[in-house]
Amino acid sequence: MKVLVIGGGAREHALCRSLSQDPAVTELHCAPGNAGIAQVATVHPVDQLDGAAVAALARRLGSELVVVGPEAPLVAGVSDAVRAAGIPVFGPSGEAAQLEGSKAFAKDVMAGAGVPTARSYVCVTEAEAVEALDAFGAPYVVKDDGLAAGKGVVVTDDRAEALAHALSCDRVVIEEYLDGPEVSLFAITDGVTVLPLVPAQDFKRALDDDQGPNTGGMGAYSPLPWAPEGLVQEVLETVLQPTVDELRHRGTPFSGLLYAGLALTSRGTRVIEFNARFGDPETQVVLARLRTPLAGVLLAAADGTLDTLEPLRWDEGAAVTVVVASEGYPAAPRTGDPIGGLDEVEAEGAYVLHAGTATGPDGEVLSSGGRVLSVTATGADLAAARELAYRGVARISLKGCQYRSDIALRAAR
Ligand code: AMP
Ligand code: GLY
Repeated sequence: MKVLVIGGGAREHALCRSLSQDPAVTELHCAPGNAGIAQVATVHPVDQLDGAAVAALARRLGSELVVVGPEAPLVAGVSDAVRAAGIPVFGPSGEAAQLEGSKAFAKDVMAGAGVPTARSYVCVTEAEAVEALDAFGAPYVVKDDGLAAGKGVVVTDDRAEALAHALSCDRVVIEEYLDGPEVSLFAITDGVTVLPLVPAQDFKRALDDDQGPNTGGMGAYSPLPWAPEGLVQEVLETVLQPTVDELRHRGTPFSGLLYAGLALTSRGTRVIEFNARFGDPETQVVLARLRTPLAGVLLAAADGTLDTLEPLRWDEGAAVTVVVASEGYPAAPRTGDPIGGLDEVEAEGAYVLHAGTATGPDGEVLSSGGRVLSVTATGADLAAARELAYRGVARISLKGCQYRSDIALRAAR
């Protein structure tokens, strides 16, 4: 199978790594890719928001499956353009991707599907925002309605800060605060059948002990030894299947990866958000544990034949990933610095997945984004996987870089 992956972050590197290990994959291409992806796939320049350009590239390469990774091309309708060219595509239509692209749309779908989530108001004017903030009280949760790459959400006890964020956005969702630990559960779906993957946990805050600003995610692990038994089945029945059914009934069937960000609150499981794509960095650990070859699963979702697949097989052990970010991330990341030690990580039993990297004029690898790379390892349990991942991280040298030292620490204990 000739596969083309669209995107160029750590998620796409993780996808390409798994696809490159799948014997069914005869050719692997990625556009635009990054310096690390170039080691496992043939990379091509492309404007990933341009559906016609992506479809033309896929046709030229004879792609038999296109996997659209990030949310921006999905929301821009890149999957629709590829599907219209007659090529199987893993990734929802632009309309269905509004589940991630608009928080207000997602709330409306959840209301229609009876999916438990935080009570919320959609606010446009200052008066509406003030009323919503005071209705819920602190801690305040204010979300930009549109795509904001994980930076559109402010959770704070400071009413002035909450109001200022609301006023800085055109349209916001203000909602009730959800207490309790967060879980990310991904499901692969063809619009009818829903196949949950294994749960993972992300670390959203920049600093140890969940201090500092919200980020795109600083690390992840799987499995979650503390999670209640039956969680996956419960979420399948109360969240994932009803959402997929609701979208199909609305005439906007969702196929691809449905990401449920959940809070396990004192009053039960609630959806914090949906994403229309694999999450980063959770994908690194979920795919690290997947034993079933990936390409056939993604193709079955694209083809509408997920109901014919054998159950997915998983590694019983654990996986941990630690994100190495640039100095100044997330506010003002510094870029353009050389990254050392990349070749030494595998000797520690871990591996590097590139996110914000680029190849310099002399073939050297340079930092080019906020989250630069992640180091992933597997092991018999979380403590073992963690040990190897951090040994790998210690090999990386990048001026001013930062990473959390407590990824999976509590769970491993
Ligand atoms: P989101 O982009 O909606 O996932 O929000 C980013 C992060 O903000 C989440 O992972 C949570 O840590 C936090 N958050 C979002 N909504 C809520 C909520 N209703 N209550 C508590 N924390 C929240
Ligand atoms: N890990 C959070 C996200 O991918 O949105």
